[in-house]
Amino acid sequence: MSETSQATEARTFSPPEQLAAHANVGPEIYDEAAADRLAFWAKAARRLTWTQEWDEVLDWSNPPFAKWFAGGKLNVAYNCVDRHVEDGHGDQVAYHWEGEPGDTRTITYAQLKDEVCKAANALTELGVRAGDRVAIYMPMIPEAVIAMLACARIGAVHMVVFGGFSADALASRLDDSGAVLVITADGGYRRGAPSALKPAVDDAVGRSSGVRNVLVVKRTEQDVEWTEGRDLWWDDVVGRQSTEHEPESFDAEHPLYIMYTSGTTAKPKGILHTSGGYLTQVSFTHWASFDLKADDDVFWTAADVGWVTGHSYIVYGPLSNRATSVMYEGTPETPHRGRWFELIQKYGVTILYTAPTVIRTFMKWGEDIPAGFDLTTLRVLGSVGEPINPEAWLWYHKNIGGGRCPIVDTWWQTETGGHMINPLPGVTTLVPGSAQAPFPGISAKVVDDEGNELGDDSTGLLVITDPWPSMLRTIWGDDQRYVDTYWSRFAEKGFYFAGDGAKKDADGNIWLLGRVDDVMNVSGHRISTTEVESSLVAHPAVAEAAVVGASDPTTGQGIVAFVILRGSAEQQGEGASGDDLVQTLRNHVARDIGPIAKPRQIMVVQELPKTRSGKIMRRLLRDIAENRELGDVTTLTDSSVMNMIKEKLPAAP
Ligand code: WTA
Repeated sequence: MSETSQATEARTFSPPEQLAAHANVGPEIYDEAAADRLAFWAKAARRLTWTQEWDEVLDWSNPPFAKWFAGGKLNVAYNCVDRHVEDGHGDQVAYHWEGEPGDTRTITYAQLKDEVCKAANALTELGVRAGDRVAIYMPMIPEAVIAMLACARIGAVHMVVFGGFSADALASRLDDSGAVLVITADGGYRRGAPSALKPAVDDAVGRSSGVRNVLVVKRTEQDVEWTEGRDLWWDDVVGRQSTEHEPESFDAEHPLYIMYTSGTTAKPKGILHTSGGYLTQVSFTHWASFDLKADDDVFWTAADVGWVTGHSYIVYGPLSNRATSVMYEGTPETPHRGRWFELIQKYGVTILYTAPTVIRTFMKWGEDIPAGFDLTTLRVLGSVGEPINPEAWLWYHKNIGGGRCPIVDTWWQTETGGHMINPLPGVTTLVPGSAQAPFPGISAKVVDDEGNELGDDSTGLLVITDPWPSMLRTIWGDDQRYVDTYWSRFAEKGFYFAGDGAKKDADGNIWLLGRVDDVMNVSGHRISTTEVESSLVAHPAVAEAAVVGASDPTTGQGIVAFVILRGSAEQQGEGASGDDLVQTLRNHVARDIGPIAKPRQIMVVQELPKTRSGKIMRRLLRDIAENRELGDVTTLTDSSVMNMIKEKLPAAP
């Protein structure tokens, strides 16, 4: 987000009158939350069905290890499914699912309940017990949601791995989480063709000691390798189960899921979320941030269930609120670039939630495409994953929202579980490009390096000053890393350090400025520079690697790598076949981590700029990658290194 683009957009947008008049929450919600934060969250928790009331809203006696609603008991799946059926809404559609090839499934709450009960019975038959970890590696098909809810129902901890991740990534997650079962599919449809999933599972499970069974959903009907005794077809095992299953109540702090996310080291962190607090905040934010009306809205989070956005706003938020959702398997350009708009028109979508990178792609494709479809059902738009630049905001507002829909820009993280900073559609006068204000009941501040709160019109670091219900509880198996990563930077003040830079404008609006650590944000996905560097140096041709995120007009950031080759590979890198080697390395990373981590550009260099203490100066490499004048080079051991690199390089695109 450049300073110029902020400066040129002075327009603000007040809430549409109709929407404000009937909104789920009005301006008083901020006062209510400020008056008594814990009472406010307790009231939000009462929107759920508990089998036992909690003793205490928040137990913060052992910070930073929080307990929310301790002593309370509930079943998360019951809250998402059964209670709506019991309330007479069994015939309401939970999901309008659309496959990429155009096949469809309509799933009502009553049908979802039957399927979740069958899957829960199947998991129990396979020996899965409360507390066991179950890996889910699936395409965007209803069984992914059913599998998650079946785990929640029996108290098993799901660990969804995005289907675009590699066998290696899956293997390390199976290992770290100690998963006993993997639920997968033969494949899914992507960009017009079936894409296999089972081979990666075979590879990963072959290296893992703990996985007893692999449960396989048939989706693409492609041939799969089969390990007798270990592999089971979903249809066989789940298909024959009873639709009766008595949900057991679990403690509010019972683990619900682990989701791995990139940190500043090569080893991904298993973020642990628990039950009562997570569901409370996700459910309440989904209802308030999007003004969700269960009887009227058709809600669509266009994201993958393999990311936290999918967990919170395709599965747990919408289902707990009895929403009717759209779920789509494929990519926006298949079979044509109007696919999303066609789906909005077909299902009468009223609320659309997606990422700025997609909006910028639509901008590139041109406004004629959305103009060819009826998008008049839309009433609220959402944005998530990275800062939305004012240009993209305005384009989204005009060309998709028809100038009438508020855009709710939601800042949050895998770690925060649910929305943390965002405007409210019936309340806030919108400032394009700014996430604006903490959600009611959330205490976020912009501080300086010492943790002192900054006034308006200043730039610093974003912190959360008080615990919140859907906060991560720890990093799986590594309490110390949890403390070090999030709570050590401002240990004295007891603040949670989010890792994001932020600015407060003259009116007190919060603008998120991206990561201040070595985490890149590519198309709204977090990728660690270290993870890509480790992958590169694992290749026999590479001696050393430095990776930076360079700003990219479509993906937010693009991955740019600087590599020093090993002696033997050096000639190749210099010579005519250098392009081949670069291609090989790019593909190597894509295979190693996943296609989303494939570097946009790899530059072969002789040296890397280092400080006297040996730290690579990524800032300077970023200057090069973004084609900028070099910043301060005085701390370099050898300032001529930068000139050497610059002279050798092709101009950055
Ligand atoms: C960034 C995705 C600006 C931020 C839900 C954060 C954002 C990281 C926004 C978390 C936003 C997410 N504006 N930046 N609206 N939303 N981010 O864990 O840097 O995949 O720390 O969670 O994405 O990414 P994660």
